[in-house]
Amino acid sequence: MRRLDQLLANLGYCSRSEARDWMRAGRVTVGGAPARDSGQRVAAGEVRIDGEPPDHPDGLLLLLHKPTGLVCSHDEREGPSVYSLLPERWRRRNPVVTSVGRLDKETSGALLLTDLPALVHRLTSPRHKVPKVYRATVDRDIPADLADLFAAGSLRLEGEEKPCAPAELRIIGPREALLTLTEGRYHQVRRMFAAAGSSVLTLHRESFGVLDLAGLGPRDWRTLPVDTFGPPD
Ligand code: URA
Repeated sequence: MRRLDQLLANLGYCSRSEARDWMRAGRVTVGGAPARDSGQRVAAGEVRIDGEPPDHPDGLLLLLHKPTGLVCSHDEREGPSVYSLLPERWRRRNPVVTSVGRLDKETSGALLLTDLPALVHRLTSPRHKVPKVYRATVDRDIPADLADLFAAGSLRLEGEEKPCAPAELRIIGPREALLTLTEGRYHQVRRMFAAAGSSVLTLHRESFGVLDLAGLGPRDWRTLPVDTFGPPD
C-alpha cells in the first residue's frame, strides 16, 4: 500500500501537490469511487487515472535497441541521451529509469533500462556473470590466436591489476568477431582489442543474457516482465 499522491508522483503522472488538483478534477478513482484524500493508502490495482490502471506500478524493465550517437547518461551536458527515446512520463518516474551498465556513445545494441535499483545492482554484479555478446569490427586482421588470449583469463587491461575473466572470441571474418563477456568494465571490448594492438571501428551488443534484439530496430524498445531475471529482491 502506498500513499495515493506518492503513487501518482512516483509513476511520473504529476507532482504530489498536483495530485490534489487531479483528484478535484475527478481524474483519479479508488475502487471505482472518485478519490478525495491524496494521503490515503491504496493498492495500485484499485486505482484508475483517467479511467486507466496505473502504468507499470511494480516497476519498469525495457530492452532498448540503442542507436549510435546517444549517451547512457542523465547529465544533459554529455549530449543527447537514450532517455530521450522514452515517453515523457517514464522520464519523470522515481526511482529514475536508468540503464543496466552503459554502452558507449558510439556503441549500438541491446541495452536494458529499469527503475528497479536492486535489479541494476544484481545484473551488473560480477557475481552474476550475465553473458553479453558483442559484434566488433576492427582495423586490422584478427590473429587466430587472439581467441586463446581472451579465453585464458590472464589478459590485463591498461591501468588495471586484475586480469579480465575468460571471454569467448569467435572470429567471423578477417576483421570481424563476436566476443562474449561476463563482465562489464569501462570500455572493455575496445580496451581488450587495444591490448592486442587493434582499434575497434564499430561495436554492437547483440544480446544481454537470453535477450536479443529480434524484432527491434534501432531506437525501438519493448517492455519486459519485471521478473524476467527471477523474482524481484
Ligand atoms: N565495451 C566497450 O568498449 N564499449 C561498450 O559500449 C561496451 C563494451
